[in-house]
Amino acid sequence: MDINQIKKSSLKELEKIKDLSGLEKFRIKYLGRKGELTAILRSLKDLPVNQRKKIGKEANKFRKELEEVFKEKSKKLQPKKLQPSKIDITAPGVKVPQGHLHPITQVLRQVEEIFQSMGFEVVEGPDIETEYYNFDALNVPDEHPARDAWDTFWLKPKSPKSKVQSPKLLRTHTSPMQVRYMEKNNPPFRIIVPGRTFRYEATDASHSHTFYQLEGLMVDKDINVANFKAVIQEFLRKLFSEDIKTKMIPTYYPFVEPGFDIQMKFPSGKWMEIMGAGMVHPNVFKAVGYNPNNWQGFAFGIGLDRIAMIKYGIDDIRLFYKGDLRFLKQF
Ligand code: PHE
Repeated sequence: MDINQIKKSSLKELEKIKDLSGLEKFRIKYLGRKGELTAILRSLKDLPVNQRKKIGKEANKFRKELEEVFKEKSKKLQPKKLQPSKIDITAPGVKVPQGHLHPITQVLRQVEEIFQSMGFEVVEGPDIETEYYNFDALNVPDEHPARDAWDTFWLKPKSPKSKVQSPKLLRTHTSPMQVRYMEKNNPPFRIIVPGRTFRYEATDASHSHTFYQLEGLMVDKDINVANFKAVIQEFLRKLFSEDIKTKMIPTYYPFVEPGFDIQMKFPSGKWMEIMGAGMVHPNVFKAVGYNPNNWQGFAFGIGLDRIAMIKYGIDDIRLFYKGDLRFLKQF
């Protein structure tokens, strides 16, 4: 075979080779000891001197060339070695799966922020209360029919000795913290008291034995119902990002006078009660040692679950307390 032919066919063949075994066959065929090029080089000795030189040169040159391209190709076909690992600081990070806050907590945080922006301080009280703070100090004496309004989980006294202390219960509202706070602080002040509250009652779509309230109390000189209304109006406007229509319905709560329930109007036109409120009753001031002639105040108790239900369009309060991830993951 002549060199030019070998050149053409070998280079073409080499190009088509896709794996190392094909490459080895190629090597044997062209570059091996019995290969075609070798054969030509071997046969040189039989040629006349002038031709021998010329062809010999060409053949050697081509052999070198072929060895070069062969090497290149074999490099390409070598399995890739893994690079020693480098940290690519520009690569986007892997997100760590994270939980999130319960919808009630989310609403609570938002509500707290709004009241804080109006100068209210956040304070908290105990879930387990005494009869004194939950009722008596709030102008709900023993045997008072108003006690029926709060179905109560009473706790068994630990020992007969503790019977002399005020009996314990799970707080039925956050109002006892009004008294605890006023016992230790002097007016003027504004506080909110978020907390878990408990009622001994059957559960349904709008009632749960455990729920959340947010108590508010502002005491100062010359505080009146208009101040209360302004605060609540601003609160609702900030929470729902629009002006909300409200109604004040006169209602009886022993610890306020006058007392009212606040209803808010939905876009649908429906009214819904969202809090009880009123002007702090003189008897409550007296119980904490304030002079009711010097101080006035308003108090309110917002149903936080209600607010969360309205905000998120939820129609069953029990969903908040089931821990069902299908529900919770939506917030
Ligand atoms: N504590 C009352 C309740 O739970 C609500 C309330 C709070 C009413 C403050 C008036 C003033 O029903």
